[in-house]
Amino acid sequence: MDSPARRLYLINTHLTGKPTLTVTDNRTGKTIEVPVKYNYIDAKDLSKLKNDQGENLMLYDPGYMNTINCTSKISYIDGDKGILEYRGYPIEELAEKSTFLEVAFLLIYGELPTQSQKILWEQRILRHTYLHTDIGKMMQSFHYDAHPMGIVVSTMSAMSTFQAEQNPTLLVGIDPYSDPLVLNKQIHRILGRMPTVAAYAYRHRIGRPYNEPAQGLGYIENFFYMLDRLNETNYAPHPKLVRALDILFILHAEHELNCSTAAMRHLASSEVDVYTCVAGAAAALYGRKHGGANEAVLRMLEEIGSVENIPAFLDKVKIGKGRLMGFGHRVYKNYDPRAKIVKRLADDVFSICGKEPLIDIAVELERIALTDKYFIDRKLYPNVDFYTGVIYKSMGFPTDIFPVLFTIPRVAGWLAHWKEFHTDPENKIVRPRQNYIGYTTRHYIPISDRKESKFYLQSLASGNQRRREV
Ligand SMILES: CC(C)(COP(=O)(O)OP(=O)(O)OC[C@H]1O[C@@H](n2cnc3c(N)ncnc32)[C@H](O)[C@@H]1OP(=O)(O)O)[C@@H](O)C(=O)NCCC(=O)NCCS
Repeated sequence: MDSPARRLYLINTHLTGKPTLTVTDNRTGKTIEVPVKYNYIDAKDLSKLKNDQGENLMLYDPGYMNTINCTSKISYIDGDKGILEYRGYPIEELAEKSTFLEVAFLLIYGELPTQSQKILWEQRILRHTYLHTDIGKMMQSFHYDAHPMGIVVSTMSAMSTFQAEQNPTLLVGIDPYSDPLVLNKQIHRILGRMPTVAAYAYRHRIGRPYNEPAQGLGYIENFFYMLDRLNETNYAPHPKLVRALDILFILHAEHELNCSTAAMRHLASSEVDVYTCVAGAAAALYGRKHGGANEAVLRMLEEIGSVENIPAFLDKVKIGKGRLMGFGHRVYKNYDPRAKIVKRLADDVFSICGKEPLIDIAVELERIALTDKYFIDRKLYPNVDFYTGVIYKSMGFPTDIFPVLFTIPRVAGWLAHWKEFHTDPENKIVRPRQNYIGYTTRHYIPISDRKESKFYLQSLASGNQRRREV
């Protein structure tokens, strides 16, 4: 089987030399030999090199451009070839043959479920869809136009306070998650409640009463029910739309150490409870360079307005005035395999909901960008967010709910990483180092001897000015 571990093994067997790095520190003349494992070196090995103050040599890598932070078996990306696999299964096969809940099981437990495991897994998750009524009340207290992601982040965080028995902070010397019952219960609860939180945030946004989860519906059908049901007694969503959303959820479920998953692992390392970890990860996802990009793409397409305005828009992007949202990726330097599937899915959704006119601008934007030197030189291709917005818009979702539709499935990936982190013998609290370039030691200055801070006063003055002009 061509698993990720096998790939790394193959990389090593292709090398003929010794798997070490010889590093000479020309400041001191010292030479060390550092083992190369697979294709990385352990940063700690470089600490054997020191400056004349006795300080360790460190690696500087803001944004983790070239740093491995953990060992994982969950997903594999080959960014140059545009390959994505979950636990070794190509994303294309999973999107065609699997379901989101089955994929969530695969990600979290490492294998596809058997028939009996699948039944139990779905039952357990669907049993945990209800929210405590106080959580519902808390959600009602948000302002009518609150961004749904703000509501989701806060609600996940609040949920931590309702599950005291799993909160490591409240327990002395006990790791609650070392008990598989406690660990799995949180996984069922979080996956079960996520669509309910999302649907409540949506209903709040559009000013409709919340629908309690329905009985006897599948995961995606139930989500549609909570979103859309008014007073119908026989509510049933369109099966093709259910399948489309299921596929979109599969595509968004996991993507190795993206910003929010890295945040999930970062938070897990402090041993804060899993609900707070999910809230923190969701907060990272909210940003427009990450899960907020689908919303930003739609706003950008609306701003461009028509195909004729595309060249002028791209000219601005190329001189650094804004970005082409939904394009570019830290890891993919080729077409994002998920974006190809999303683009094809658009036609299925349009055949039911009607064509979303913004698709014409998106297609033309992609065509021009992919033949433009700026984007070619930087290897910028459409990512998963480029076409999802037009699909969601055609399905009738308001723009600000788009990142929430990304969050629901990504929770599966976060939980897989949280569980993996928890059982990793090499896990440690995440604590990077900094390059301090501030003042050397100085002594406290009495207030009467201090100089005015011009920057602070100027910023206040311009703030006042802005208010007066409005
Ligand atoms: C995803 C993203 C944050 C990755 O960022 P990154 O790996 O740190 O790459 P950088 O920001 O260093 O960009 C590298 C170069 O490409 C350019 N670039 C990257 N994405 C761009 C975009 N979407 N539009 C225009 N230029 C872009 C940068 O300006 C930079 O150019 P330079 O070398 O002339 O300075 C970035 O591509 C982006 O902001 N994309 C738009 C938001 C988006 O769609 N996010 C969803 C990701 S799934």
